[in-house]
Amino acid sequence: MLVDSHCHLDFNDFEDDFEEMLQRAREQGVTAMLNAGNNIDELEKQLEISEKYPFVYTAVGVHPHNAAEYPNVKAEDLIGLSTHKKVVAIGECGLDYYYDYSPKDAQIKLLREHVKAAQETGLPLIIHNRDSDDDMMEVLGEAYEQKQFSGVIHCFSSSKKFADFALSIGFYLSASGIITFNKSNDIREVFAEVPLDRLLVETDAPYLAPVPVRGRRNESAFVKYTAEKLAQIKNISFEKLAEITSNNFYKLFRKASDKGRYEF
Ligand code: NI
Repeated sequence: MLVDSHCHLDFNDFEDDFEEMLQRAREQGVTAMLNAGNNIDELEKQLEISEKYPFVYTAVGVHPHNAAEYPNVKAEDLIGLSTHKKVVAIGECGLDYYYDYSPKDAQIKLLREHVKAAQETGLPLIIHNRDSDDDMMEVLGEAYEQKQFSGVIHCFSSSKKFADFALSIGFYLSASGIITFNKSNDIREVFAEVPLDRLLVETDAPYLAPVPVRGRRNESAFVKYTAEKLAQIKNISFEKLAEITSNNFYKLFRKASDKGRYEF
């Protein structure tokens, strides 16, 4: 079994072959998926999918790219939207200074509202972090001292220093297709040292398809390539890695019941 801990199944990219895409994922042993939030207006479509397919969980949040469009989203709004039984996390949310689509102060303000919602609800945070390590450590670190919360750094692609920080506040690190890319030696070195009980795997589909399908539209079936690479890095069998990362998923996302798991 495998769990795709982060994907965007509500995107139009999957409109034409949704059922076939799910079937291919099942054939590769994917038993559950977590559909991350991109902006709160898409939540309705996400919930429609999650209500139809028991193995698809969802999360509510505003991606940092969209921060400028949603200046008034407050923790209370996120908390209200998170009461649905299939909403198992807050996010994705975070900071992205690489693309810088929204002003930094707007991104930071919105991130703080997500952190507050995670603190209030006890739901884990799904963090997007790109070229923003210092501000991210400051925001998460300060909040964590006030009141603890849990979460995952999705698509982890930062330094050892940032990984150590995330682990020190109890976070999980999620490996995406990035770990299969030729140039990702530094990131593979970081993952080599992450404890097994803090690892997740994901696709971030439709983005970031792993080698050997790099460049194509990504989909949950392809999480197996990332899991294979991570098993190599950790020097354990694929089966063991799949089992560990799936168990980690249910430990972190406690609201996700493995009753929704697709049985073979
Ligand atoms: Ni994403």
